[in-house]
Order: sequence, then structure tokens, then C-alpha cells
Amino acid sequence: MGLLEAGTPPKRPTREDRERGVTTCAAAYDAGYRLFDTADAYGRGACEEILGDALREVSGLREDAVIATKCGTRQADDPAPGGLYRFDLSSEHIVMSCEGSLKRLGIETIDLYQLHRPDFLCDPHEVGAAFDGLKQQGKVRYFGVSNFLPSQVAMLQRWLNVDIVANQVEIHPLRLNCLEDGTLDLCFEKEMTPLAWSPLAGGVLGEGFTIDANNSQRTKLARLHEKLDRIGGEHGVSRSAICLAWLLKHPSGIVPIVGSTKPDRIRDAASAEDVELTRLQWYEIYVAAWGGERLH
Ligand SMILES: NC(=O)c1ccc[n+]([C@@H]2O[C@H](COP(=O)([O-])OP(=O)(O)OC[C@H]3O[C@@H](n4cnc5c(N)ncnc54)[C@H](OP(=O)(O)O)[C@@H]3O)[C@@H](O)[C@H]2O)c1
Repeated sequence: MGLLEAGTPPKRPTREDRERGVTTCAAAYDAGYRLFDTADAYGRGACEEILGDALREVSGLREDAVIATKCGTRQADDPAPGGLYRFDLSSEHIVMSCEGSLKRLGIETIDLYQLHRPDFLCDPHEVGAAFDGLKQQGKVRYFGVSNFLPSQVAMLQRWLNVDIVANQVEIHPLRLNCLEDGTLDLCFEKEMTPLAWSPLAGGVLGEGFTIDANNSQRTKLARLHEKLDRIGGEHGVSRSAICLAWLLKHPSGIVPIVGSTKPDRIRDAASAEDVELTRLQWYEIYVAAWGGERLH
């Protein structure tokens, strides 16, 4: 379950935003979701605050759920007007960001703390020092990364005293890189959990998405929609559920982070857990996504 999207304008959440966020979290919790993912960057802290509201208000949520958040991106105008959006995995920034996230979430410990994006200037010794301190102080239970290439994960892990337990990456039928670039292989090898962001390609693969005549991927999209709908019909579930079941079928144990804010869609997405695609169905979707031609 993802909590609202990046790019939300930097405005204070209204009472309605907060109520809608808490309702969404409650619906997800009731539907059986147990991982709640957010980031300090989402809404510039507003999404963490709203998840904090939910943690206080939704009975059982704090005890049962894994609370995941991220650090390491710096927004435009931070710390002063004119500053660019950029990445910062310096020790100081990681520690300071974690303190801020804990405060906004209103909790003592973050269950999964992820480095949001690789930072080209990252010194892994600095990350190690920050992680050791946060772990020793009980501020973080587990550490993860996001959008890291396998080589970047391996390099960082080499200098850490703690394990990297997850890599959150973009995986869906319109984004196949992680199947092919070794990301999932490394997860398997190191027993890391792959978390899939935008599992419905940001809604493009969900039902109700209209393919615009100007969409450069319209042929592939139409082919994928047709395939997902047909297989959905065979299993008696929605297109979205099949798309998620396609991720769940991968033996590396991909955990899709569902991004909907609509309780009905959140409940519907949970039905993916009951779907067991055949190997043939999995490859039908892969081939439709890959190019529609015979694999060689
Ligand atoms: N680590 C990273 O760099 C990174 C980047 C992006 C996202 N994320 C994480 O991944 C989470 C999920 O990403 P995402 O929001 O892009 O996921 P997504 O589930 O692929 O897309 C969600 C979007 O699709 C729409 N949607 C959902 N179900 C639909 C359906 N059945 N039919 C049509 N539209 C549907 C939603 O609209 P409604 O709300 O109206 O249902 C929402 O706009 C985020 O919340 C965040 O936690 C991480």
C-alpha cells in the first residue's frame, strides 16, 4: 500500500486531506494490507503526517503494520530558494531526515527506512555510520534502498554492518528492466524483498484507463489490456488484480505497493492474492508487454 504520490504540491494538508488519508489507510488495513509505504518527499512531509494520523486513529494499525518511509531526496529551494531538486545520502542528511520522519509519523521506530534514490556523491562509509547510529538508538528496525541497481546495492552492502533487506523498484508489464538487469536475481541471492512501486504503471494498466489516440504506446497498451482482461475473465477477477498477480507469481517474492486512494480499488487489488496464474498466462502477459512477438 503506497501512501499518496510524489510531486504533491508543498501545501499543508487540509482537514479533508487528512480525513481522506485516514479513511484510505483504514480501508487498506481492513482489506488485509500490512505494509504502508511513504517518503519524506511525498507532499514534502504531508503524507507522513497523514500516515501519522492514521497510526493514531486506526485501531491495530501501529501494532500490525510495517511502516516504511524514505529519505535522500532534497526538494527544490531546500535549504534556500534556488536550490535544485537533488539527492543527498550524506550521514548528516540521513540522520536529520530520520528525526523529521519520526516526528511527522509520531512513532518511536521506523520499521523499514529506505534510501529513496542513489546519490552519485554517496560515500558508503557515511551511510554506514548513519545506519549504525539510527539502529543503536532504536530509531530504525530495518534498512532498505529504492531505485538502486544491483551493482549499487552490492557496493553499499559491502560497507554496512546492517543488512539491506529490501530494494523498492519500478516493476510492472510496461517496465521490465528489473527482470532483466539482475535486480531480482540479487534479491534472491541476498534474501532481500523486492518492493514494486507503480505496480499498475500509475493506473495505466488499471480498468477504466482510456488509451489516447496520441499515446505512443497505444498498440502495446491495447494488447496488454486485452490480455489482462481475458485472463481476468478466466479467473473471475479484474484487470488490475491480474496485473498484480503477474508480479506476485515471480519467485523472488515481489511485494506490490498498491497506490490507489479509493477503498473499492484497494479491496479489489487485494483479490490478486487469491489468483495463481499459470506459467502460460504469465508468459502471455510478458510477451504482450515485451513486443507481442515470439520470444527468442
Ligand atoms: N520509490 C520510488 O521511487 C517510488 C516512486 C513512485 C511511487 N512509489 C511508491 O509506490 C506507491 C504506488 O505507486 P503508484 O501510486 O504509482 O501505483 P499504481 O497503483 O501503479 O498507480 C496508482 C494510480 O493509479 C490509479 N489506479 C489505481 N487502481 C486503478 C484502477 N483499478 N483503475 C484505474 N486507475 C487506478 C490510482 O488512482 P485512484 O487513487 O483514483 O484509485 C492512482 O492514481 C506510491 O504510493 C509510493 O508509495 C515509490
